[in-house]
Amino acid sequence: MPDAEGVQTGKQYHEDVPQETRGFFLKGGGSYDWGLKNRLARVFRPDTGRTVMLAVDHGYFQGPTTGLERIDLNIVPLIAECDALFCTRGILRSVVPPDTVQPVVLRASGGPSILKELSDEHIAMAMDDAVRLNAAGVGIQVFVGGAFESRSIRNMTRLVDEGLRAGMPVMGVTAVGKEMARDAKYFRLACRMIAELGAQYVKTYYVPEGFESVTASCPVPIVMAGGKKIGELEALEMAYNAVQRGAAGVDMGRNIFQSEAPRAMLRAVRETVHNNLKPEDALDLYETLKRDGS
Ligand code: R5P
Repeated sequence: MPDAEGVQTGKQYHEDVPQETRGFFLKGGGSYDWGLKNRLARVFRPDTGRTVMLAVDHGYFQGPTTGLERIDLNIVPLIAECDALFCTRGILRSVVPPDTVQPVVLRASGGPSILKELSDEHIAMAMDDAVRLNAAGVGIQVFVGGAFESRSIRNMTRLVDEGLRAGMPVMGVTAVGKEMARDAKYFRLACRMIAELGAQYVKTYYVPEGFESVTASCPVPIVMAGGKKIGELEALEMAYNAVQRGAAGVDMGRNIFQSEAPRAMLRAVRETVHNNLKPEDALDLYETLKRDGS
């Protein structure tokens, strides 16, 4: 029998005791094979254990999102500033220069547009194409609580099986429907399910209440998704709080490419994530770089 509602008291997440990971710098990765570890070490910086991924995959279900109308003009010049790019294979082949040295994580799910039920997704690329494109990982939505919950879980476990054969890490993304709760209780459930079912890292949203219980109860690294555009200070505070409360970095899109100065914002987020720069100081850095024309 699952826990009944309200039987949550008495749980102990030991948020102040880091999970021990022998033999590798990333949480939960000690027993992975060499290729998986090597690909993960391209996305997550071994010196900080964190990553700043730039998410520009939004077009796979919502078309030319504001800020992504021309990825060749708006995003390609930013790639050098991120630790990894998260995009679709269509964008990779059509506009990302093949001499790009930053690792690429490829969006591997798709199907419905914003006009339809979003959880009705499928695996949308073959693993051998990800290998052919020299990807450092693949990412897939998981709709816990969604109309097609079970299918999206099955999509992810199939992708994980294919990824293990190829040495390709899978990032499971907690997809939140419009009417679904976005609280720690939900994200603990979704992140833990994604990790237990085999994803090597999880992308999820930040919640002000109890985020440390989400990261503590997930046995693999969590990267924070940015969500809708908010003010720069607020976005930097969110990134700061997420890493201070256990996230291994961010995979941010709109709060970077919809900023008035995307390059300055990306640099400020990097300082926040890798060097623990306080939000007010990161905002100062952003303003200075913006003034200087970044
Ligand atoms: C995930 O569902 C999206 O495709 C984006 O990768 C994700 O939402 C991150 O971008 P943003 O920071 O704009 O939310």
